[in-house]
Amino acid sequence: MKYSKEEKNRIFKEIDDNGFCKLDNLFTNEQIESVKESLYSILNYIKPDDNIKNLQEKYYQVKDHSMKLKGHFFDMTSFDINTLKILFDERIIDLVKGYFKTNVVFSGRPSIHIHDSENERFLDPHQETNQCAKDFLFIWAPIFDAIGDQGGLEIYKKSHKHGYWKHSNSNKLGSSHLKEDVLNKFEKQRMEVESGSALLIHSALIHGSVKTTKRRFARFILCDRYCPLQKIPYLKKEDAPLKIPHFGTDYNAIKE
Ligand SMILES: [Fe+2]
Repeated sequence: MKYSKEEKNRIFKEIDDNGFCKLDNLFTNEQIESVKESLYSILNYIKPDDNIKNLQEKYYQVKDHSMKLKGHFFDMTSFDINTLKILFDERIIDLVKGYFKTNVVFSGRPSIHIHDSENERFLDPHQETNQCAKDFLFIWAPIFDAIGDQGGLEIYKKSHKHGYWKHSNSNKLGSSHLKEDVLNKFEKQRMEVESGSALLIHSALIHGSVKTTKRRFARFILCDRYCPLQKIPYLKKEDAPLKIPHFGTDYNAIKE
């Protein structure tokens, strides 16, 4: 069931004020289980072994077997229909449409982010860019509690109120990120999100990974970027690329 008008107004105000809103119990156990079952089945297809029933152990069985195939597993998760059904849940799409006052929303990149205790995919703090729209909302929904040593997400308080900063890619992963000169301006806040709940976050809010320190534990995060039919250079300029480049673009100059 969609959120009521009053609930939506509260959620929109929180996003305006804080750059994000926590949606408690957004998904049912059944929905979360359907994703876990998909993930397990994909992994068990790569490395069949019915003796290992646990998703975490199965993940590490595949990672130990082949880092490359673990990467292929990650690539395929974006196309799993159980996952897409959750990410396209009508309550979320209705919220995004309401927030941007549009009747058209594009799915930017549905995916399941995986951060395990080796932390190879640790993401330095950044704003969310490289989508077709300048401003959008994205969802961050863990399927295991993102609490304590299981790691999670941290945000930089109210950083969405200052536009977009110039990003760098000079870190180990080559991921788009911000340096201390920008990060030092804001206070950090660690988010604690239980499985089934989610954060709906404005693209301009600076956020980054919190390391997973629990040994041989993988955090699986459902994620998509919901882009409204607004501020899309590709639909206004003949030579614009479909996705606004991470680098070399003045994001703050994009007005329509
Ligand atoms: Fe991000």
